[in-house]
Amino acid sequence: IEVDEFDLVVFGGTGDLAHRKLLPALYHRDLDRQLPAGARIVVTARRRYADADYRDWAAAALGEHVADLDEAALKRFLARIRYVPLDVDAGTGWSELAAVLEERPDVVRVFYLAVAPDFFGPICEGIGGEGLVNATTRVVIEKPIGKDGASARALNATIGAVFDEHQIFRIDHYLGKETVQNLMALRFANALFEPLWNAAHVDHVQITVAESLGVGGRAGYYDAAGALRDMVQNHLLQLLCLAAMEPPESMDADSVRDEKLKVLKALAPITGDSVDRLTVRGQYRAGASAGGAVPGYLEELGRDDSRTETFVALKVQIANWRWAGVPFYLRTGKRLATRVSEIVVQFRPIPHSIFDPEAGPIAANRLILRLQPDEGVTMQVMIKDPGPGGMRLRQVPLDMSFAEAFKVRNPDAYERLLMDVIRGNQTLFMRRDEVDAAWSWIDPILDAWAAGAGHPKPYTSGTWGPSAAIALIERDGRTWAEDG
Ligand code: BG6
Repeated sequence: IEVDEFDLVVFGGTGDLAHRKLLPALYHRDLDRQLPAGARIVVTARRRYADADYRDWAAAALGEHVADLDEAALKRFLARIRYVPLDVDAGTGWSELAAVLEERPDVVRVFYLAVAPDFFGPICEGIGGEGLVNATTRVVIEKPIGKDGASARALNATIGAVFDEHQIFRIDHYLGKETVQNLMALRFANALFEPLWNAAHVDHVQITVAESLGVGGRAGYYDAAGALRDMVQNHLLQLLCLAAMEPPESMDADSVRDEKLKVLKALAPITGDSVDRLTVRGQYRAGASAGGAVPGYLEELGRDDSRTETFVALKVQIANWRWAGVPFYLRTGKRLATRVSEIVVQFRPIPHSIFDPEAGPIAANRLILRLQPDEGVTMQVMIKDPGPGGMRLRQVPLDMSFAEAFKVRNPDAYERLLMDVIRGNQTLFMRRDEVDAAWSWIDPILDAWAAGAGHPKPYTSGTWGPSAAIALIERDGRTWAEDG
């Protein structure tokens, strides 16, 4: 369905995000005829490009990131682009931008801040100062939203001085992933799971976001962040919220976000002494990946004194009626054995077996939501082994692979999220109080790590992280579902 007429202004239009994500996502939406005839993409950056120069740059970006580029669609898409040189530091280019936007005062106007957070303040002031905020204006910001609770509050205050909360779209691109939204469909569009979705029936939950790549060219940003800020504060906690929240009243943005907020507030604090027991941090060393030998994190960084973690494992408890006593094990890291993201809900074992011991062991049921790659849902159940050989039990997957079931291209998260911004739907975006609550829980862990003398535990690239992460779950008599 076509969205309303819009002007989308991208700050940082020659950056990595525009190159890899925004332009390809907009192109795909255009290809599917979701962009209205007059929709414009107004790109700003410091470089003194003419429209034609930027269109060439954009065409090259699309050539790199889109398979089977359609020539006619590409032409139509490029014609939507305007380029306005704008230097935030020097304060130049604002009136030129204002003039372009004034050509269409009545369309939805979106400002996308694809820039480092240091620029958020000056850009918001520029937008406010030029009087560019109208009734249908929205602003999109990317993480990192702060490096701790205090800086996040300051950043949110800066943006809040120019925009109302209902105009602010804080992107967590994990919320735009198909399977993440499927978690809501699975839980709340089926009668089957919800009665079992609690401490009486669930033994524990695992959330893994494993990457096989290292930090590559982003070492500068990453070294100041680390895996806890880069992945856990946002993506993993958001996944945990969707898995653990109570049924919202509706899919309305505030209903969903109210429920997620309650989960964040119910997270049992990990502070002081418990930090060593409930958290593991690691840093990759040289090793091997699918492509061959790879250097360690410190070599990539070019420094040998960094204590930044590239891996985190956590044992998290949610202190409420539904989840009391059910651990949520979280882990994420770079340069792990493989790229896989999944949520595993491990149910409790059956209370009593009626079968002979010869029938074999009875594994407890397990529901696996695979976010990537090979998006899908698997339910592991016990069945009788086929054949006349007597009653032998076997665990089999009831498997649904989305690629096989639907045979459609799996849209990138940004496609969905950008269209939601234009529609003004905030359901899949983080509210200010969610960001605050997430930081309130993360801050004490960061503080304890910073205060302690310890270093992250080394792990060899291409493995599943430090052995302490395996011990974290095995101490409880459990194992990671995915361990190479
Ligand atoms: C980003 C992180 O938010 O998510 C990156 O900053 C990480 O470090 C990326 O690589 C992972 O996203 P995806 O969609 O590839 O799983």
